[in-house]
Amino acid sequence: MNLNVDAPRRAIAEARSVVVLTGAGVSAESGIPTFRGGMEALWKSFDPLTLATPEAFARDPKTVTEWYDWRRQKCREAVPNAAHLALAALERVLAARGGRFTLLTQNVDRLHQRARSRNVVELHGNIVEWRCAATGRGGEIPEGPFPERPVPSPHRAGAFLRPSVVWFGEALPEAALSAAFEAAQACDVFMSIGTSAVVYPAAGFIDVAAANGAKTIEINRDPTPLSQRVDWSLMGKAGEVLPKLVEQSS
Ligand code: OAD
Repeated sequence: MNLNVDAPRRAIAEARSVVVLTGAGVSAESGIPTFRGGMEALWKSFDPLTLATPEAFARDPKTVTEWYDWRRQKCREAVPNAAHLALAALERVLAARGGRFTLLTQNVDRLHQRARSRNVVELHGNIVEWRCAATGRGGEIPEGPFPERPVPSPHRAGAFLRPSVVWFGEALPEAALSAAFEAAQACDVFMSIGTSAVVYPAAGFIDVAAANGAKTIEINRDPTPLSQRVDWSLMGKAGEVLPKLVEQSS
């Protein structure tokens, strides 16, 4: 790969505060399918309206639970890739020089945490924890596939557990949203990595950062609506580009 990363690398090296927004493309090299782009993308074979809304769960909890349980198993079997590891390393580099690092992720797979990233803001929740759809209380779940689907809630008769992800039509968690806004407003460098940048409000944080003077970097395998607008668009796989960028930022 012949990619010139000198200028964005310098911007990172000089930054006191770096914010990174990640999307499904960051986990693609761990074998987790993305939602858009490429033949294997989830929203090519599945309709989000029948799987990723509260109405879909109310109508057909069995199908929705089976789909999320299948994805939960894929996430559990996956291991963090070079992109996850590079972001965790960048956080350590910033911490060592008294800087600040915030990782905003749209991914629900928990791979950033497993790669030892610490300051992770889960914008769309996670697929590891499940809660009662009626009361919101958490429920104990087995690591392996659920023996019964949908999963009966221990908290209310007749109710089921649902994944702690954010579905279409639902609000993002308040704390995550305000943490993301605050970090975006205060950062010197904002990176958007492996996201198609079409789902809001996540896709809007880069504008908040840029409006406050941050330099912007995109890493993506394909062009997105951001590619023409960022200071540096680095085209390539996250697992190949990020280590190059981060290795040399310390
Ligand atoms: P998408 O599937 O929309 O976009 C993934 C992006 O990653 C695309 O732009 C790909 O070109 C790019 N990509 C694929 N492989 C890559 C690689 N190895 N390296 C770098 N880039 C790569 O995923 P998100 O943007 O995360 O929400 O999607 C946002 C939200 O839409 C998701 O959180 C999910 C989805 O519907 C909900 O379910 C609520």
